[in-house]
Amino acid sequence: MTTAVLPGGAAVGGTCELGSAEFAVVAAILQSDARIHLTEAKKTLVHSRLSRRLRERGVSTFRDYVRLVQSDPVERSAMVVSLTTNHTHFFREGHHFDHLRQATMPWLQDRARRQPVRIWSAGCSTGEEVYTIAMCLLGQDRTSAAWLRNSDVKLLATDLSPPVVEATNSAIYSASAVEPVPAAYRSAWMRPVNADFQMADEARALVTARVLNLFGPWPMRRQYDVIFCRNVMIYFDDSAKAELEARFVEMLAPGGYLYIGHSERLIGPAADQMQGCGQTIYRKRGRASA
Ligand SMILES: C[S@@+](CC[C@H](N)C(=O)[O-])C[C@H]1O[C@@H](n2cnc3c(N)ncnc32)[C@H](O)[C@@H]1O
Repeated sequence: MTTAVLPGGAAVGGTCELGSAEFAVVAAILQSDARIHLTEAKKTLVHSRLSRRLRERGVSTFRDYVRLVQSDPVERSAMVVSLTTNHTHFFREGHHFDHLRQATMPWLQDRARRQPVRIWSAGCSTGEEVYTIAMCLLGQDRTSAAWLRNSDVKLLATDLSPPVVEATNSAIYSASAVEPVPAAYRSAWMRPVNADFQMADEARALVTARVLNLFGPWPMRRQYDVIFCRNVMIYFDDSAKAELEARFVEMLAPGGYLYIGHSERLIGPAADQMQGCGQTIYRKRGRASA
């Protein structure tokens, strides 16, 4: 079907064109507000995601929508959120969780006898990552969770997008979403709620989810023992990646672990302070205090 485009970008047939000038404004906002780097290759995706916002705001052209975004900070944030990609699943990149259980957990358990333990899922999306970490820490049954009862172990989950942070806090997942969760973990730490599953109280009690732009200030006061930032840096350009990497390395305790996504690698000078110890797994050099 051909669609005639009217002056101003409106089109006959219920869709309208996203011109290069409007795309450039959208890309500049994503870059300045979230450091997300949008190339022209993403134009179709941007068109389809923003078309929904146009409909919701009763705006008929991208030219008018861009004007709205430039004058309305609330719509500007909503636009940025609508352009984030939130794909995730439980036990994604399973080798990270094998490493967490086999190499990192004994270190964390030893540390937890003496001091607080802090773990951060940065760019947590809807929470599958942080609850996978929580289930690994809790183990496959209630007795294996005993070490956590007398320890100060906390998991922080953060994301730019308020709706996904809300989903992390509510911790309710569909039956298809929980399919990758091994049966033992599922029966120990998830409970059926209607047709869905909710994380058990023990897992939820470990997790705090908050809205946080990784390029804004970080309110956390103490260093972290483990940071997961997976499939987030792929959206940033090299200077943003290097800046973020340096902040993660600074935020990690000596001996702490950083897990990044399968297609990511450390590129900035901060990488010198990290030692590779598995596929996309790094450990901060220096003597751990425990
Ligand atoms: C593809 S998801 C990754 C989820 C999970 N870490 C995983 O690997 O399955 C990427 C997440 O990064 C978040 N994100 C993108 N830019 C961000 C920024 N500047 N600050 C905080 N979160 C951001 C998005 O909202 C999205 O939920």
